[in-house]
Amino acid sequence: MPLPKRVVLVGPMGAGKSTIGRMLAKELGYRFLDSDRIIEERCGANIPWIFDVEGEDGFRQRETAMLDELSGEERTVLATGGGAVMKPENHPLLKKGAVVIYLKTSLEQQVERTRKDRNRPLLQNDDPVGVLKRLFRIRDPLYCRLADIIMYTDRKSPRLVVRQLVNKI
Ligand code: S3P
Repeated sequence: MPLPKRVVLVGPMGAGKSTIGRMLAKELGYRFLDSDRIIEERCGANIPWIFDVEGEDGFRQRETAMLDELSGEERTVLATGGGAVMKPENHPLLKKGAVVIYLKTSLEQQVERTRKDRNRPLLQNDDPVGVLKRLFRIRDPLYCRLADIIMYTDRKSPRLVVRQLVNKI
């Protein structure tokens, strides 16, 4: 089977989209793109600053513009932010020419991987676990609907996940 033009990774915060995306890109000989990091580079500020100054709405506008721009980039693996599936207008931008992979991860793993993180504004509050739970309920059906491949990542090393993905793509 020929390789897809693009591979797009979706899933919640702490799913390992960036780590696995970088390794998968190397394996496929594709370029790795991380939409959050490119937004930060373009803006000259980090995500907490963007949320502070422009609100979540401002960040989402930047995210949609970035997904639109990156949707034309071939031979790429794109790691998206966990909320990229929230706007319906993003869906065709995520799907365009792509195999979409949902990195599905338990709540426990998400909590563990995001525990000490200060770069995720949605989790800087008294109940980050409650937030992750609520977001999972809303977003899991969207990730599932968009995905061509659902890959469970719990109790697997990134290397194993990448090997399994290469076999499925
Ligand atoms: C968000 C996830 C973050 C980032 C922003 C909002 C979300 O990306 O885009 O903080 O809404 O889930 P990661 O999934 O890479 O942490």
